[in-house]
Amino acid sequence: MGYIKWLGHAAFEIEIDGKILYIDPWITNPMSPVKLADISRADLVLVTHDHDDHLGEAIDVVKKTGAKFISVYELTQYAISQGVPEDKAIAMNIGGVMVVDGIEVIMVPAHHSCTRGTPCGFIVRGKECSVYHAGDTGIVHEMSIIRELYPIDIALLPIGSVFTMDPRQAAKFTEILRPKVVIPMHYNTFPVIRQDPELFKRLVKEKVPEVEVVILKPGEVYRF
Ligand code: NI
Ligand code: MN
Repeated sequence: MGYIKWLGHAAFEIEIDGKILYIDPWITNPMSPVKLADISRADLVLVTHDHDDHLGEAIDVVKKTGAKFISVYELTQYAISQGVPEDKAIAMNIGGVMVVDGIEVIMVPAHHSCTRGTPCGFIVRGKECSVYHAGDTGIVHEMSIIRELYPIDIALLPIGSVFTMDPRQAAKFTEILRPKVVIPMHYNTFPVIRQDPELFKRLVKEKVPEVEVVILKPGEVYRF
């Protein structure tokens, strides 16, 4: 049994095959149910790009817990310059596949911008489940091929618009991905990305009724 806990915005705590993963842990976000002091254990910390609302406190979590930091090459170099030990900084790039602590990590494209390297999404696969975190992105058409190689059980998709997909595009993307479950993220953190997740749910139900839409509140957990 594993779980996905939404920490608000694009931040998630995930337990899979007994490992604790954080993705984009900006835990000082206005909706976050946790503080840095609450985090005592982590195995992997994955960061999709270097914008502050994604890099967040990732480096602090790594330093504090001894977790491994996984990101695009240029961002791992930055993390090392900020004190992450070299043997804890795992550099990848788009298309890369690595098994880290028994968890398969696939770095996939995202259409967005950043300062260091390139933005990405991640598929993380354990024995229990495969989870896709899209990062900040518009629709990524390549995922129609990638999902054939690495089927997705749970997709975490941004719906806030302005900086990412909106609910309409995210529903179309869900149709491409065909996950078992989709969880919306990256909305309602600020007024500019205000969205109604129920609209996303309705749009997914119209297009792909077999996909379960799970709307989490910050701090809420989905178990698999
Ligand atoms: Ni961004
Ligand atoms: Mn963002």
